Amino acid sequence: MDISIRAYNALKGEIFSQGENALPGDKSITHRAALLSSLAEGKSIVRNFVESGVTRVMLNALFQLGIDWELEDKTLTVQGKGIQGFNSTKEAIYCGNSATTLRLLTGAVAASGIETVLDGSRGLRKRPMNRIIGPLQLMGVNLYGKNGYPPLVISKPTLPLKAINYTQSIASAQVKSCILLASLSAEGTTIIDEPGPARDHTERMLRMMGVDIQAKIISDSQNANYVYRTIINNQFPAQLKELNLTIPGDISAASFLIVATIIKPESELIIHGVGLNPTRIGLIEVLQDMGAEIMITETGEKDMEPFGDIFVRSSKLRGCTVEGPLVVRMIDEFPVFAIAAACAEGKTTVRDAVELRYKESDRIAVLCSELKRIGVSIIERADGFEIDGGHTLMGGIVDPHGDHRLAMSLAIAGLVTEKPVLVKGAEIINESFPNFTLIMKSLGA
Ligand code: S3P
Repeated sequence: MDISIRAYNALKGEIFSQGENALPGDKSITHRAALLSSLAEGKSIVRNFVESGVTRVMLNALFQLGIDWELEDKTLTVQGKGIQGFNSTKEAIYCGNSATTLRLLTGAVAASGIETVLDGSRGLRKRPMNRIIGPLQLMGVNLYGKNGYPPLVISKPTLPLKAINYTQSIASAQVKSCILLASLSAEGTTIIDEPGPARDHTERMLRMMGVDIQAKIISDSQNANYVYRTIINNQFPAQLKELNLTIPGDISAASFLIVATIIKPESELIIHGVGLNPTRIGLIEVLQDMGAEIMITETGEKDMEPFGDIFVRSSKLRGCTVEGPLVVRMIDEFPVFAIAAACAEGKTTVRDAVELRYKESDRIAVLCSELKRIGVSIIERADGFEIDGGHTLMGGIVDPHGDHRLAMSLAIAGLVTEKPVLVKGAEIINESFPNFTLIMKSLGA
């Protein structure tokens, strides 16, 4: 499927948290809710569950591991079987394109004490796994992936696992969550340090389930020595209380709509019920600094996650610099941020973002090649990119390289280009945001 998005008038609208045109539930929280429910003792209920390509593979994997679940009307019911409740599998567990599924499941499978193989699509087989193999081996898990890539073979570990003190060289929620999940079958205190506050949904959810888990910033000398520490105290065998929660709207999905509204003149949008976890709102803060009119009009906290309504209006932006611990707080938003930067006056620089090279695509290389095709002045750097913004964009044919976020970002650019932007292979959008085009149409695109 190819798509092209144009709008002859301004975008206008209001997006609610229910109905056909609703913002999807948060993908990261959805993954965790399904997985942690399966580890709980008893029946969990999760509302506003987003059913998309990547969350489907998590559900199928859980089924393969012997977990019963039901999904009806965006409500997921899971019959948890406890931390050691998974069955060993003869067939490899297929994680599709989803690194979150593979990395989080590996931690949970290690805690479960079973043997299995975790595998995925050709794209997933290129994603680095040494970052989880290393710490899990220190915990006593026998885990192997040829050259550090999937498939990962895990053999029955001896429980309890060892509690560890571990320093992540990169800030990553998938790695942190993998270790935290494995540590549910370790005896004692596990400490994880990372150079930035990666999203903390696993921690929040585990707390709801009765786990003793804390987090603090232990040194913050202006970026360079920033350390974010997570501490989990566990008594083997852990027991998790069942979940009963509602997932907030996905801030990462909302970001495409927010940037679309900002760049399209005279547009206005209200989005209700969006998750506003501080580890996820880096893009909103940067856009506000660049001059965007974005207001968070109502906030509350439900099921341990802050949420609110976002009002946004089209605005003139100025270029800026993004670096340091801020990068991880907007790690998924760089493709759409680049579109905003291309429309901003002056230079925008992104640094300290080498991790973008290890996402669904090499997001630095692909962003540079595809944005050049539509006329953006962008220079590739080893750990980021520079954009000279504010010039007329031509449009053209682009290839998102099988990356859902690239596909949506490039499509949004078509709102302001002279000629249309035609995005090839756009069906990949269904991996995370199945009603993206429906919502864009409802706003007038
Ligand atoms: C995610 C963590 C991030 C993010 C991904 C989802 C998660 O990956 O890019 O889309 O749900 O934990 P890393 O932990 O590899 O940075």
